[in-house]
Amino acid sequence: MRTQVVIVGGGPSGLLLGQLLHLAGIDAVILERKSRDYVLGRIRAGVLERGLVDLMGQAGVDARMKTEGFVHDGTLIGYDGEMFRVDFAHHTDATVMVYGQTEVTRDLYDARDATGGDTRFEVDNVVIHDADTDAPFVTFDQGGESHHIDCDFVAGCDGFHGVSRKTIPDAVRTDFEKVYPFGWLGVLSETPPVNDELIYANSARGFALCSMRNAQLSRYYIQCDTADSPDNWTDDAFWDELRRRIPAEAAETLITGPSIEKSIAPLRSFVTEPMRWGRLFLCGDAAHIVPPTGAKGLNTAASDVHYLNQGLRQFYADGDSHGIDTYSQKALARVWKTQRFSWWFSNLMHHYPGQTDFDKKMQLAELAFLRDSPEAQAAMALNYVGLPY
Ligand code: FAD
Ligand code: DHB
Repeated sequence: MRTQVVIVGGGPSGLLLGQLLHLAGIDAVILERKSRDYVLGRIRAGVLERGLVDLMGQAGVDARMKTEGFVHDGTLIGYDGEMFRVDFAHHTDATVMVYGQTEVTRDLYDARDATGGDTRFEVDNVVIHDADTDAPFVTFDQGGESHHIDCDFVAGCDGFHGVSRKTIPDAVRTDFEKVYPFGWLGVLSETPPVNDELIYANSARGFALCSMRNAQLSRYYIQCDTADSPDNWTDDAFWDELRRRIPAEAAETLITGPSIEKSIAPLRSFVTEPMRWGRLFLCGDAAHIVPPTGAKGLNTAASDVHYLNQGLRQFYADGDSHGIDTYSQKALARVWKTQRFSWWFSNLMHHYPGQTDFDKKMQLAELAFLRDSPEAQAAMALNYVGLPY
């Protein structure tokens, strides 16, 4: 069998790329290791930058997002018992969209079904061959049978634990990594959000975040130990700890209820360079991971997809390889800026084990500076709504 692009991974990066390529008349086969229900069951990101909102429009999959998503034009930051607001619309003329990754993924799968796109679920042993030649191919197993697809290009959209990044030889690849000494315990509950806007809270007991999916579905996070387990947390214990970490005016109005999902995510900054090897291109978590503070993971995956989509379109339209030749440079230039923002915001908001009194004073001084300086707020707002592609 032959196709133009094999996309390894049917998460948001792979699906969005598949849809955009389809609209340009470029054929792709998507290979996904898990079942569709499994992919749709993963609770992950919740905030879409303006760039991803635009891409959803370009991909023709923004109808539900426009009616069910929530436009946010600012966010609240709590520390030392008080709260202040960063107004995105005032500082940037832009806003973000609260619309879950689960919904983005569902819309993309629905669109793929409608176009009859070839998506293979529950595939195993995906191997990318000859990516450094002009004739790459991909082999995989499915339902006890082995398959072989010849292609022009391979898009590695298979997340942090996928095979694509590891296909690039160690001698060619450099990995940059920082692991944080804490994780996030997240709870989803069918309760109204505590506030119309997100609240990021720095407290002496550790970071907390109040987020949402819709008017009846809330998403909350608290910083926890890396070795902790969701089983150690009853719902009551979670709500008590959350109340202690957020400003009193929010704690007093928090409506609690049973959790419908509870999980722990580790925090990591990671980038691999380059993001291209021959005819293999890495996109999204396959190439980089950010700590979640500031919601940049999914959004950075989307900017990669944008650059790769443009490069491949240019190549197929007129044989011009400039876009694919500069893909890694362009994507990485934006990736590193987003890494910086996520790292900065994580450092500002978390309690670090072994943090000295001086370190705490520095965090508080930086928060006070952000509260009082329109210029600092503008810098934060620019990053939060998303740097331009
Ligand atoms: P993924 O979503 O990881 O998709 C990759 C796909 O490839 C998966 O479906 C996987 O099953 C498949 N795959 C893997 N290996 C293979 C293989 N060998 N063959 C075939 N298929 C394969 N970001 C935020 O902004 N906010 C958050 O709150 C947030 N929470 C997160 C919580 C967790 C637990 C994780 C892991 C990530 C979270 N992120 C969050 C990050 C965000 O979800 C990711 O940045 C985003 O999912 C990246 O999309 P992707 O398509 O590149 O990768
Ligand atoms: C969410 C996650 C984030 O990391 C963030 O900064 C904002 C919102 C969320 O899951 O809703």
